[in-house]
Amino acid sequence: MEVSVWRGSGDQGGYETFTVPARDNQTVLDVVSWIQQELDPSLTYRYACRVGMCGSCAMMVNGQPRWTCRTHVKKVLQEDRLSIAPLRNLPVIRDLAADMDPFFEKWVKAGGVHKPGRSRDEPIQQVSPEESGRVEANKAIECINCAVCYAACDTVAASPDYLGPAALQRVWTLYNDVKVADRAAVLATATGPGGCMSCHSQGSCSKFCPNELDPLSAVAGLKRAAARAFFKGKA
Ligand code: SF4
Ligand code: SF4
Ligand code: FES
Repeated sequence: MEVSVWRGSGDQGGYETFTVPARDNQTVLDVVSWIQQELDPSLTYRYACRVGMCGSCAMMVNGQPRWTCRTHVKKVLQEDRLSIAPLRNLPVIRDLAADMDPFFEKWVKAGGVHKPGRSRDEPIQQVSPEESGRVEANKAIECINCAVCYAACDTVAASPDYLGPAALQRVWTLYNDVKVADRAAVLATATGPGGCMSCHSQGSCSKFCPNELDPLSAVAGLKRAAARAFFKGKA
């Protein structure tokens, strides 16, 4: 197969094409690793677990964001060709390695840190797994921070200040967690500048999330909660 790979740093670069032998059960990450091991040891990319756990291997494959260690070539090959590039909406460190800092900075900006309402000296707060807020909060705990949703988001592309689907999904988790000290403050951050109101609800984030999470519903939940809080405040 012919594989076009993005080479370069920052805004500078272009595609370089390699011929790679097809193998059974070959993943896109296998292809990248083969090129690096057999043809060009300077090819820069990132991975760690190879089993869909760490979230570090995401790249654009034929124009779509994918976790490359779990993406089989057979599923994405087009006319015996692959195009592989660094994740969209993030700066490029070099070749296929995107700079994840802006993605994680948005988590911090969104208030993604859990701030408990009780100290370690107080009794542990019991929460039933069936409680509706807990059910909502549980939905996003399998997020592996791969930034695939972030790369898929057209609002991030158009407005670099937009917090993005993963950070807002984290806020939705915290908002539903009764152990969080100030859930109103959590919601206020999510509805501020760059927050959930900028989402156009077309759902690319949920379509591409490799863990089948649903950031779109989380962002919609934040919008509903913000509307309820607004009308409650006016009453
Ligand atoms: S639904 Fe909202 S958060 Fe998801 S990709 Fe679209 S704009 Fe981004
Ligand atoms: S929501 Fe899905 S696509 Fe987005 S960072 Fe988490 S696991 Fe990755
Ligand atoms: S290498 Fe860890 S998720 Fe792909």
